[in-house]
Amino acid sequence: MALLSPAGGLVYHLRALRHQQRIWLPFRRAVAGWLREALPIGEELVLVGPSAGHCLPLEHLARFERLLLLEPDGLARVLIRRRLGARRVVHRRDDLLVSPLLRGAPGLDDLLRDRPRAAVLFCNLLGQLQFGLSNDQHDSWREAFQRRILPALSGRRWASFHDRWSLEGPSGERPPAVELQFTQAPSDQELGAALFGAAGPPLQVLDHGTAGLFPELGPHRYFTWQLTPQVLHVVEAVNG
Ligand SMILES: C[S@@+](CC[C@H](N)C(=O)[O-])C[C@H]1O[C@@H](n2cnc3c(N)ncnc32)[C@H](O)[C@@H]1O
Repeated sequence: MALLSPAGGLVYHLRALRHQQRIWLPFRRAVAGWLREALPIGEELVLVGPSAGHCLPLEHLARFERLLLLEPDGLARVLIRRRLGARRVVHRRDDLLVSPLLRGAPGLDDLLRDRPRAAVLFCNLLGQLQFGLSNDQHDSWREAFQRRILPALSGRRWASFHDRWSLEGPSGERPPAVELQFTQAPSDQELGAALFGAAGPPLQVLDHGTAGLFPELGPHRYFTWQLTPQVLHVVEAVNG
């Protein structure tokens, strides 16, 4: 992830500094409430892309006996280590999620095979990956993720929250913070109507390429995240 990428790096940390205790609060509370249910405390937790934990309930996650953090951003690693306390926290900076899946090399699935009791949390990065890949690469990555990573999740606790859509425009025109729950994955129309109402003019959203990445059966939650006063993200949360 580039140093100045809005999804990680310096721009993201500066945004967090500005908005974390204000417009990000409803989203952070929603994520914390969901994770308390989705990830009960256990022996080990693998966090994929935690950044500095700006949106994560670190006090809850720190109660795992061991944490393994997969995070390429050096500044994020320093900040989150400080917040968590250095003990029981191991970091890896190498990419186990994208390049190994595209190249057919050992990746996250191999790491998980060696840790059968570890829980896994994908920390709001799966909806950012398409921006660094061509369409063909992203299709190949999705196929490899479903073929290699999903089976490695079965039999363990796992959770992912990831961007489903984002949209721009003044926040005054949108509903305030929203939390929705469906018993299975909603269609785009169902989700749009539940979030923004069935009436009204059509909305233009940026699709983050995560629909259908995880199995469609089972509870799907959606949280709105007012990333900046101008930009709203619709974040999907799934677990198993
Ligand atoms: C949107 S941020 C996550 C935000 C985080 N959940 C929080 O609480 O602030 C996405 C993170 O994914 C990380 N990332 C990007 N590619 C990655 C990869 N291949 N493996 C692990 N992390 C990665 C980025 O460095 C960035 O910190």
